[in-house]
Formats: sequence, structure tokens, C-alpha cells
Amino acid sequence: MRYLVTGGAGFIGSNIVLRLEKDRHDVTVIDDFSSGVFQNLKGFRGDFRCGDISKMNLIDLFKSYPPFDGIIHQASITDTTVMNQEEMVQKNVEGFHRIAEYARVYQTRVVYASSAAVYGNNPSPQSEDQYPNPLNVYGFSKMLLDNIGRKLALEISKPVIGLRYFNVFGPGEGHKGKFASMIYQLYLQMRAGKNPRVFKWGEQGRDHVYVKDIVEANILALSAETSGVVNAGTGVETSFNEIIDGLNKALKTNLTPEYFDNPYSFFQNHTKASIQGTKTLLGYTPRFTVEEGIQDYVNYLEHS
Ligand SMILES: NC(=O)c1ccc[n+]([C@@H]2O[C@H](COP(=O)([O-])OP(=O)(O)OC[C@H]3O[C@@H](n4cnc5c(N)ncnc54)[C@H](O)[C@@H]3O)[C@@H](O)[C@H]2O)c1
Repeated sequence: MRYLVTGGAGFIGSNIVLRLEKDRHDVTVIDDFSSGVFQNLKGFRGDFRCGDISKMNLIDLFKSYPPFDGIIHQASITDTTVMNQEEMVQKNVEGFHRIAEYARVYQTRVVYASSAAVYGNNPSPQSEDQYPNPLNVYGFSKMLLDNIGRKLALEISKPVIGLRYFNVFGPGEGHKGKFASMIYQLYLQMRAGKNPRVFKWGEQGRDHVYVKDIVEANILALSAETSGVVNAGTGVETSFNEIIDGLNKALKTNLTPEYFDNPYSFFQNHTKASIQGTKTLLGYTPRFTVEEGIQDYVNYLEHS
């Protein structure tokens, strides 16, 4: 099959690209390197078009090639602290419009990255039937992608699937710096022999999902029969204290947390995906517990 992956030099995109190539598919990547890095695509054998997706006419760009069998859209501003509303919506939402234009012409299956950020501070477990409640313009842009995706699904003959990722961690996220996962930040501190620093008293919980499960959800979405917008998490909340326990085990250390006051007036203390809808739509069940994901990830970090 021929697939187009946008944001393919990024953390999740590159994991998807390399998995698709392992499964012997022909992959074209679009990325503007605004955050991704070429090092994520070690061994990549496909084509690469460099540029800002929100400004690309995909129909023109690929008119002399056979149509894609599917588009996996990951390209996005992922710095969630960007407050410039025009910039965020222009890149993220217009970027998705360019995908939709192509899909309408060629009747192409679309799988795209949405986010748990659409839920804001909705109560946990966050489920797809809750009203979106984004607290920043990043979450707002993802809510708009879901609106456009649902509409596109009614216009074309192929499924359109939105995956609301929760907190993803795993190989290939190093370039994200302070936006890399909490698990990676704590790993770096502990690897340097420092006590891991977390907000008092480390009991805040997140749905941390290993990138290999997120790749699997995308692969399943490439053969799903119906459209939908569903969560992509584990369905389990893990506290920061438990993450530190998992890292201590994987690193064979015994470092104790250093707690400090949370400076934020608002902080989402608990997130957990309801994954019933994902099971029904995609047949998705996460393969990794957080502890297993941490073990696999630390193995990778220690030996790469
Ligand atoms: N990592 C997470 O925990 C998480 C959680 C929820 C949603 N997401 C979503 O998953 C997707 C992938 O995120 P990631 O964590 O891999 O981040 P990332 O920053 O590593 O990947 C994004 C990629 O898109 C590229 N890009 C950005 N804007 C572009 C544009 N206009 N044109 C072309 N390329 C562009 C970047 O260079 C980068 O390679 C994003 O859509 C993100 O919003 C991620």
C-alpha cells in the first residue's frame, strides 16, 4: 500500500513510518522540521517532501503519482504553550484542510492525531461522549480537527478516524525537550543520579501510553471499517510516584522523589481514557502496561 505520513520526522510520526516500512508499505513523508529531526528516520527508504503542510496543495504536488491508499496525519504544532491563536489555528487547522481536499478528490482514508487536550479539565475517565472543553488554543485546534474529520467522513466513501492521544512516551521523543513526556524527563534526572522532582505529593495521575501501542492504534485504524473519533490511551491512570517506582526498577536505582509546590493555579490532577469506544471501533487493546513500557523504553535508551 502507499501511505502519506505528515509529521513523519516527529516522535510519533517516525515510529509510524518505520513500522509501515517494516510491514513493507511504500511511505512518503511530509515534514517541515519545525520540531522533528532527521535522526528519527534512520533507515527510512521512502520519499520526503519538505514543507509546511498548511501551505501545500497536495493534489498538485502528487498529481503525477498513483493516489495514496491512506493518509496518517501527525503534523502539528506540539508546543502546547504557544498562545498565538492565529499561528496555532493556521498551521494545525489549515494543515488538516489540505489533507481533506486531497481525500475528497481521491476518496482517501484519513487517520489523524487528535488529543486528550480537547477534554480540558473534564472529569476522569474522559470519554468521547463528553463535551469538548479545551483550555488552550492547542486543544481548541484539535477540537476543530475533530469537527472537520466528522464532516469529511460524511463526504467521502472511506473511513476518517481521529485518535485522541493521551500522554504518549517512548523512543524518538528526545527532540521535544521540555515537551517530551514526564517519563523521559524523570528518566534523565534519575539517569544523572538526581532525585526525581515532582509536584507535592506525586499522587497526580495521567494515562501514560507507550508509543508502540499508539502505532498499533494507527495501524488498526488503517483497516477499520467505520469512521469515528476515539481515545488512544491505556484506560489506566498511573501516578508520578508509580512512574518513579517503575523507573527505579528499570534503572536498578533507589532514588526517592523530591517534592515541590505546584506553581499552577489550575492543574489537571487526573486523566484516564475510557477506551471502550476504541476497542469497539478498532479492536484496540493496549499491549503494554506502563511498567512494561518503561522497561522497554529504558532498555532502548540504555542501549541506543
Ligand atoms: N506526544 C503526545 O503525548 C501527544 C498527545 C496528544 C496528541 N499528540 C499529537 O500527536 C501528533 C504527533 O506529536 P508528536 O508528539 O510526535 O510531536 P512532534 O513535535 O515530535 O511531531 C510533530 C511533527 O510535525 C512536524 N510539523 C509541525 N507542523 C508542521 C507543518 N505545518 N507542516 C509540516 N510538518 C509539520 C514537526 O516538524 C514534527 O516532526 C501531533 O499531532 C500531536 O498534536 C501527541
